[in-house]
Amino acid sequence: MSNSLFRKKSLAAIIKDSKEGFTEGHETGSMHKVLKVKDLTAMGIAAVIGAGIFSTIGEASFHGGPAVSILFIITAVTCGFSALCYAEFASRVPVSGSAYTYSYVTFGELAAWVIGWALILEYAIGNIAVAISWSGYFNNLLHGLGLDLPVWLASNYDSATPEIIAAAPKIAGLPIILNLPAFFVVVLVTYLAYVGIQESKRSANLMVALKILVILFVIVVGFFYVNTSNWHPFMPNGFSGVLNGVSAVFFAYIGFDAVSTTAEECANPQRDLPKGMIYSLIICTVLYILISFVLTGMVPFTSLNVADPLAFVFDKVGLTWISYIISVSAVIATMSVLLVFQIGQPRIWMSMSRDGLLPKKFSKIHPRFKTPSFATIITGIIVGIPALFLNLTIVTDLTSIGTLFAFILVCGGVLLLPREEKATTKRFQLPYINGRIIVPAIVILFAVLFRSGLAEKLSFSGGWEVWKHNIPFFLFVIATIIMTYFSFTKKLSLIPVLGMLSCFYLMTEIGLKNWVVFSIWLLIGLTIYFGYSYYNSKLKNAVNS
Ligand code: ALA
Repeated sequence: MSNSLFRKKSLAAIIKDSKEGFTEGHETGSMHKVLKVKDLTAMGIAAVIGAGIFSTIGEASFHGGPAVSILFIITAVTCGFSALCYAEFASRVPVSGSAYTYSYVTFGELAAWVIGWALILEYAIGNIAVAISWSGYFNNLLHGLGLDLPVWLASNYDSATPEIIAAAPKIAGLPIILNLPAFFVVVLVTYLAYVGIQESKRSANLMVALKILVILFVIVVGFFYVNTSNWHPFMPNGFSGVLNGVSAVFFAYIGFDAVSTTAEECANPQRDLPKGMIYSLIICTVLYILISFVLTGMVPFTSLNVADPLAFVFDKVGLTWISYIISVSAVIATMSVLLVFQIGQPRIWMSMSRDGLLPKKFSKIHPRFKTPSFATIITGIIVGIPALFLNLTIVTDLTSIGTLFAFILVCGGVLLLPREEKATTKRFQLPYINGRIIVPAIVILFAVLFRSGLAEKLSFSGGWEVWKHNIPFFLFVIATIIMTYFSFTKKLSLIPVLGMLSCFYLMTEIGLKNWVVFSIWLLIGLTIYFGYSYYNSKLKNAVNS
């Protein structure tokens, strides 16, 4: 059995399957190849700029102060390493399925399943967070128009105040509290994803154009209202205060990788996908850093612990009409995020189904719309129903930790790809930089620079109750030592190694509780794998027949 867990798909087989567009004995049809660099970049931006910059940045700024901009830079660098690794994969394995397919080629089936399972956190669970955030801004808008929904139709059990509970109708004594707008936006977006990539592409491009315009407007106008005294002290709660915002800030960057799920709908995926991902990441990074400066310059950071920080700061300086424009654009912005993820999730399932790891229905392509119809509807249900009930923070943390885990595997996978001297076709190629000396040098430099923090994290003086929270960091230290050793002995490529280590480090900052939930999630995934996927794997059956 142990060998079969690591059975791998060959690159050639994966590309052949996607070209033929069928799974064994089951016609799935091929997809429209319409996406170009501009569309892919727009799609990346559509997926990235959303709930993070419109909502969760508020809390991150409250903890970190103006220095939250440093966290945006650190996170951008981390995502940059991962984006380059995604780009390398996308140019070598230009088929739908993203990190899932990449792991199948490099690590084998079990890891591919695990990553496919973790990606549900990024796409479906992430979309629950976005739908909840969307609903918050949407309710603000309705409120502005004097059209308030009953409070019990715009909240959830966790966040409900005693007033909301009192107002809610009861069934068998149980109050009915639902986030109805969150559910409806998921239904709408699922419909768009269902009817086709052409329509989705048009809507995404339109939403992105509007979103960028509004963000630029905020930066330019906000700049004139900056009071530089708000930038002092720059790091009021120390570096640990800044790191408090890791989950929120990383969440804001999630999405550029979703572009890679549309490989089969690209005109020239090997050349255009890498460009689309990298361009969108660069554009968002610049906008985010500027926004973080403007935001923390306009008002004291202590007032930023709000759900709608961008609208809030303009309200604070007396520009209520701008605050209203921002609410409108937040509704549009977060809808485009929803759309990209709602398109991405079914395509990952489609790839898993083609491999036999999920039932065949998941790879069924709609004869007219040419979209994975069944998988799209299931995504709608999985996102829409929980969005009615859950609270934002839980889902944001889970999304960030799952996505970082996926990024680590993608970076690690690049290290396992057979090295090519020179690409035969005109495609993106990740530059090889020998990590032999540089990785150990960087690790030593960081260990020296942060020696006191390191000693504190590794010391047992506070007892188990304190130390247990350092378990993720302890695992990170072990991983760093191992990777440094292999970098030295095997001359590993620098960029993927730095990608793995930086993502792992950010994971350690997301809190033990989320590690526990994430582990449970993985266990459930493994149970499904050993109960269904292992036996139905197309690769297994091909070997046995
Ligand atoms: N980055 C996406 C957002 O902030 C997930 O909404």
